[in-house]
Amino acid sequence: MKLKLKTVFLLYFMVSLMGLVYALMQLGQRCDCREHDLPKDRTISQLRGELHKLQEQMRKSEPTKASKKTSLPTIYVITPTYARLVQKAELTRLSQTFLHVPQLHWILVEDAPHKTPLVRDFLAASGLTYTHLHMLTPKERKLQEGDPTWLKPRGAEQRNEGLRWLREMAAAAGGKGQTVENAVVYFADDDNTYSLQLFEEMRYTQKVSVWPVGLVGGMKFERPVVENGKVVRFHTGWRPSRPFPIDMAGFAVSLKLVLDNPEARFDGDAQIGFLESSFLQNMVTMEELEPKADMCNKVLVWHTRTEKPKMKREEALIKQGLGSDPNVEV
Ligand code: UGA
Ligand code: MN
Repeated sequence: MKLKLKTVFLLYFMVSLMGLVYALMQLGQRCDCREHDLPKDRTISQLRGELHKLQEQMRKSEPTKASKKTSLPTIYVITPTYARLVQKAELTRLSQTFLHVPQLHWILVEDAPHKTPLVRDFLAASGLTYTHLHMLTPKERKLQEGDPTWLKPRGAEQRNEGLRWLREMAAAAGGKGQTVENAVVYFADDDNTYSLQLFEEMRYTQKVSVWPVGLVGGMKFERPVVENGKVVRFHTGWRPSRPFPIDMAGFAVSLKLVLDNPEARFDGDAQIGFLESSFLQNMVTMEELEPKADMCNKVLVWHTRTEKPKMKREEALIKQGLGSDPNVEV
């Protein structure tokens, strides 16, 4: 409909312009006066130039826009997030990466009892296509201050909530439509660093695609090892015997596989290091994995972690009644 209107508008514009050019030429024939011809000629050539420019713009922009919209599979990115000092900084960096990725739908799931105004306003201003959800991690499953980070898995309930939304959305669409049939699901934590190329690598995932993850597990990188185009084992520093010894950032699954396995979810009680396996193990075999990123020779995502900011000076100033203005959002 949009395209048709544009075509009609362009036709109308061209016909009017030709009429105008013709009228001006007729006027020109009847007039002998050279002073009158000059501005008229200039107007005509200006209008011709404008017309040419417009035609070029239409030619360049229309086919790319249309093909991007209709043919690219959607990437649904599920991100768990929780309130802390660096949250807005993490979300800013992440969202500005995602803005460069066509046909991406961000499912941001807050680990909170309700959606917070900070995240709601942030998403509204982000310019991204998104869904805002929340799911509080039950207290007994949550890391307490001072607990070692390996004690309990993080983000499990939030990723499951994202999966629930996807399954409901797909059911409502009757499993049909471009955004459902070829879509891909990726679990992107809010603190990692993602190359734009990673998203193009995962876009045509059939079942589960895999690639290396940099700076993880006490290694420069972990990765699936590929022989003759197939994953045969995993390069990891710890328990390579796990069903899928890969980090959350190292794989994407097709939405179809998620829908075909309605029970598949992350086990919030999984032993340390087994969270990814708890989701993948009943859906796919090692032989079926699709190696990406130059047969797993290229690192396109890094398991970066942000340092917790020290607030010693802030606390000292608060004691003196001189703390930062609480109305300024960080
Ligand atoms: C590693 C893996 O890369 C994670 O995918 C995995 O969930 C985690 O270990 C684990 O063992 O559970 P790590 O850097 O240690 O990652 O974990 P975080 O980045 O602290 O947390 C993973 C995600 O969960 C982040 O998006 C974070 O915002 C979120 N999170 C963390 C919550 O939603 N709630 C929390 O209380 C903590
Ligand atoms: Mn992390």
